[in-house]
Order: sequence, then structure tokens, then C-alpha cells
Amino acid sequence: MRFSEDLLSWYDANARALPWRGERDPYRVWLSEIMLQQTQTQTVKGYYARFLERFPTVFDLAAADEETVLKLWEGLGYYSRARNLHAAARRVAAEMGGRFPATAEALRRLPGVGPYAANAIASIAWGEPVPALDGNQARVLSRVLAWEDVLNTPFDLVDPAAVLIDRQRPGDYNQALMDLGAAICTPKAPRCDACPVAAHCRARAEDAAMDFPRKRAPAAKKQQDRTILLVMLNGRLLVRRRPKGLLGGLYEFAALEGHYAEDGLRAALAEAGFAGIRIDRRLPDAKHVFTHIVWRMQGWLAECDGAPEGYSPVDAAQLEALPFPSALRTYWEIAKEAVSR
Ligand code: ADE
Repeated sequence: MRFSEDLLSWYDANARALPWRGERDPYRVWLSEIMLQQTQTQTVKGYYARFLERFPTVFDLAAADEETVLKLWEGLGYYSRARNLHAAARRVAAEMGGRFPATAEALRRLPGVGPYAANAIASIAWGEPVPALDGNQARVLSRVLAWEDVLNTPFDLVDPAAVLIDRQRPGDYNQALMDLGAAICTPKAPRCDACPVAAHCRARAEDAAMDFPRKRAPAAKKQQDRTILLVMLNGRLLVRRRPKGLLGGLYEFAALEGHYAEDGLRAALAEAGFAGIRIDRRLPDAKHVFTHIVWRMQGWLAECDGAPEGYSPVDAAQLEALPFPSALRTYWEIAKEAVSR
């Protein structure tokens, strides 16, 4: 059996009982699909019934004033949907003799009908074999196909989705995928054992349903080269308070962006306002991994005769009492040693 045959057999026995199911009248299908965007099926049921009672045809909706439509929409949210709904109804009533466009492409020209809704409506109402690719359908298909690419939008799957679609019953096929995604092929706990299309599913064959859809790799962390300086002034160590931002309010040692050879370092420190700099020795390297950034640190021990503004000289006891980030742990241990001598 083909994928779509297994899917539709399951759907015929297990379709959710929803008021718009089995409906092929374009006005009703359109109304339900607009309401179902961004809104749970349970919530839509009542609104769908009340709208149809009040506005049985597209002409009734077109003739209503906007306030009445918005009032009836109250609680569904995303009110631009209601205004677009009303505008589309007026256009269909006034310019199209009350007949909805009969292709997905033409439906997309109505206010408020995007590519997903257009395909859903065209497949359900007119039997056009176009996939209604929302996040759910894309998740299911990415698993069935073990789709390796990251999906930037569900529409990245248009071509393979169009191959799999059932050409006799595209509307049922699309709704079957919606139900499968809601009941079985769920985002976090897919029930592959109960899945009617498990035999067609490549992710299932690899026991890897949860690995699809593929996620974008987390952005590479920014690598930042830093030079940490333990600078002594008259036997005490220079520290300063970090400004707001990363590790804001904690204390730190003198630091420069970038890595330096000894001569360059002396010049950079003079530039930064340190007077009479004498480089003592190079310290071990250290690395600290933050959430979004990595510090690659080189360290130096030095002495000076004068420090720029913002630095305070501290003794061992003061150093112990100040809050320092663990990113500087390696240098803090060395500092404690240096300042105790
Ligand atoms: N979500 C969007 N369209 C739907 C439909 N026709 N049935 C169930 N859920 C849906």
C-alpha cells in the first residue's frame, strides 16, 4: 500500500469529529480555515457554529457591518483576521457573484488568505492536489522522509509533499496529516507504535523520530582573545569593578582585548594609562566558556608606578573579600599568591 492509502484508511476510521469535516462548500471551508489559523480546534467549534447561524452565506457576511463581525469574533483573537474575513466576503459577494476562487493561486489574492490557508481551502473545497503545509504537516513529513535539511519554513517541503499527496482525496489527505500530527506524530512524544504509516516512515526505521525535523545547530560561540594582567603597585594588586553587562558589578584585574607579545603589551599598557610598567613574567593560559562567548585568556604578571583611573590597589585580605567571577579563577589563585608575598 502507498503512504497516502494507509494514511487515508486510518483517517476514515479515526478522523476527529469536527463540524467542518466533510464540508466542501467553499464559504464554509474558507470560514473554518481562517478561524483555525492560530486557534485551537476546540475553541473554533463554537465560533464556527455561531458565524454560520448568523451569516449562512457569504452575502450575509458581506452585508453585515464590521462591528457586528468583530463582536462575533470577540475572543478568537488576531482581529486583523476578522477584518480581512469581512473584506474578503465583500469582494467575493460584490465582484465574484458570491463564488469563491477555484484555485489555490486565486484564493491567495483574497485578503487574509495566505499560502497555507489557500492550499487547505483549495484541496478541501475544490479537490486541488496541493499540500497544506503548516508546522504540523511539515513535522510529520520531515519524519516520514527523514528530511536532513533544517526547515526554515514548512514550505521547504513543497516538492516532496506534492509527490506524496493523494490526488483523489487531497482535502482528506491534508486533514488526515493534521490529525496524525495532533494525535500520533506529536512534537515531543510521537507514538510510532500506533502510527498507521510507520511502515513508510524513514525516521521510524532508524528509530529516530525525535531527531526530526532537523534543528539548526546552535550559533557558534564567539571566541574572544583577552589578556589578563596582574599589575602590582607598591606591593598591592590593582583591581577594578566591572561596569554593567557581562559579569557587571563583579571585580576583575586589568585586562586588554587581544593577545600580545611582550613589547606590544608594554606599549598597550602605557597607552591605557599605566606608568612605569615592568613586565615580570608570563602566566598560564586559561579559557572560560560562557553561554554565548568564550574567553581565551593569556596572563601576565607586571608592576607599575601609577595606574589609570578606576583601579584600586588591594592587599590579600581585601582581594579575598571581593566578588570575582569564576572565569578568572586561574588568575585569582595566582594573584592571591603574588599579593601575599
Ligand atoms: N487546522 C487547520 N485546518 C484544520 C482542519 N481542517 N481540521 C483540523 N485542524 C485544522
